[in-house]
Amino acid sequence: MRLKGKSALISGSARGIGRAFAEAYAREGATVAIADINLEAAEATAKAIGSAAYAVRLDVTDQSSIEAAVKAVEAKTGSLDILVNNAAIFDLAPIVEISRASYEKLFSVNVAGTLFMLQAAARSMIARGKGGRIINMASQAGRRGEPLVAVYCATKAAVISLTQSAGLDLIKHRINVNGIAPGVVDSDMWDEVDALFAKYENRPRGEKKRLVGEGVPYGRMGRPEDLAGMAVFLASDEAEYIVAQTYNVDGGQWMS
Ligand SMILES: NC(=O)c1ccc[n+]([C@@H]2O[C@H](COP(=O)([O-])OP(=O)(O)OC[C@H]3O[C@@H](n4cnc5c(N)ncnc54)[C@H](O)[C@@H]3O)[C@@H](O)[C@H]2O)c1
Repeated sequence: MRLKGKSALISGSARGIGRAFAEAYAREGATVAIADINLEAAEATAKAIGSAAYAVRLDVTDQSSIEAAVKAVEAKTGSLDILVNNAAIFDLAPIVEISRASYEKLFSVNVAGTLFMLQAAARSMIARGKGGRIINMASQAGRRGEPLVAVYCATKAAVISLTQSAGLDLIKHRINVNGIAPGVVDSDMWDEVDALFAKYENRPRGEKKRLVGEGVPYGRMGRPEDLAGMAVFLASDEAEYIVAQTYNVDGGQWMS
């Protein structure tokens, strides 16, 4: 029960990695807002987790939705102690085909969404005066560019940078900001990634996913629950002295 009595909001937690984090946080004693643009899926996830979870509609690209979600958490639990900035979207295209619309959408969700969620959470935490924890989901894609993945990689590099700046700025309020950089994780998102690689690399569906899994030093793709231990640790009292870091949890894919 390392998060006993804590109130957490996890963006994009109706499915995938965010859902696995919500399950782990609930097991560790936290109350968790399943905050997602897909309210119906968030409600189903909250119901499956049980009384420690509740659904909140959240669109991280919409400032009024961000503020309403933080207020909903304060109204439900009295405080916001832990934010996980997990919501993100993916796209893929060669440089000469990247559209401005795709660029703007990815930066709006992955970067502006992370920054303005983080800001709203920090304001709430500062007003309460008891510090807090903010965990940003980066990616191995933020450590190194990839030929077809320029925009997503750039958004995740920006998340690592924001984690550093926000971590340094907010620690004076006893708000620890850190990040997690997964490698390749078997989720609905990766099924979408696989379909895009199939199109651009002219492969049968499923082949890219199989190959990337075989290429992981550990020997398989990650599973959402492989990341949950780090998400619990960074939110717990044990991580008090950790500031502005992004940790690779990727089966050995990247070393930094
Ligand atoms: N799957 C991977 O291989 C992998 C690897 C590295 C990093 N990551 C990162 O981990 C995080 C979770 O990934 P996942 O694979 O579980 O993704 P996913 O696509 O399965 O889940 C993302 C969730 O975010 C929600 N969402 C999308 N746009 C939103 C918005 N505007 N506002 C609120 N919610 C929104 C979706 O409804 C969905 O429930 C993301 O930040 C992703 O970039 C994933």
